[in-house]
Amino acid sequence: MELLDGKSLSGELIDSVKLEAEKLKPTLAVILVGEHPASMAYVKNKKKACERASIGYREVNLPTDIAQDELIAEVEKLNQDDEVTGFIVQLPLPDSIYVPEVIRSIDPKKDVDGFQAYNLGKMFLSSEFEDLPPATPSGIVKLLDHYDIPIQGKEVVVVGHSNHVGKPISVMMLNRNATVTTCHIHTQDLVSHTKRADILIVAVGKAGLITGDMVKEGVVVVDVGINRNDDGKLCGDVDFDSVSGKASYISPVPGGVGPMTVAALILNTIHAAKRQV
Ligand code: GUN
Repeated sequence: MELLDGKSLSGELIDSVKLEAEKLKPTLAVILVGEHPASMAYVKNKKKACERASIGYREVNLPTDIAQDELIAEVEKLNQDDEVTGFIVQLPLPDSIYVPEVIRSIDPKKDVDGFQAYNLGKMFLSSEFEDLPPATPSGIVKLLDHYDIPIQGKEVVVVGHSNHVGKPISVMMLNRNATVTTCHIHTQDLVSHTKRADILIVAVGKAGLITGDMVKEGVVVVDVGINRNDDGKLCGDVDFDSVSGKASYISPVPGGVGPMTVAALILNTIHAAKRQV
């Protein structure tokens, strides 16, 4: 079994854009609403990555009780701000805010998370039209490519059908000619699907959902979950101990997909800046 080391690849990718960043002088802005502890940790990593890549960084901190129209007004300000070449609204948002409406207000050319309908739509056409692809799925593809893991013709099983990971990674795997099965909470017999997977991508948010008896020998496992177990330790959706015994490759948590999301965000930030010069 080999680890899919997202941490080290992420560092390489971030370092690789430094020269370009020094020329382009992009700025990434992050809108952070409230003080959600996990979000604060993720945002800190994004800030560190910007510093490492010589990308300008700006944080817009807003109170939890902000009204939806006030938040959208902040998005509009960043849409208009020529210094900001890309920005994201860190999720989750408070329940009082309707996320799709906020995402809809982001200018697609600055949408470096790749959450906007325009960017998701381009991804639907084919891999050559992926322009600002959603960050986490894009990071997953880069991780698989780095380890020369073939995708074409493979049985890819995705567990989870979220707008930000499960659905877009299913499409990106289809773009690379995999045979894709997307499972979710209503799937009747999850094990019958996971057992067939050559590549298993799990993005549910449920610690230990996938165990060794649910996968076949030699499977490639990508664990997108970030959970805390009973001891407060970070863990994924995959029971690492039992699954790693059967897997040919497995991404660890932490150190797998998480850093790759940050790397993909940085690459999107460079790409967006290039198209604005
Ligand atoms: N919350 C958890 N992951 C992400 C991400 O990649 N982007 C945003 N905007 N929010 C998140």
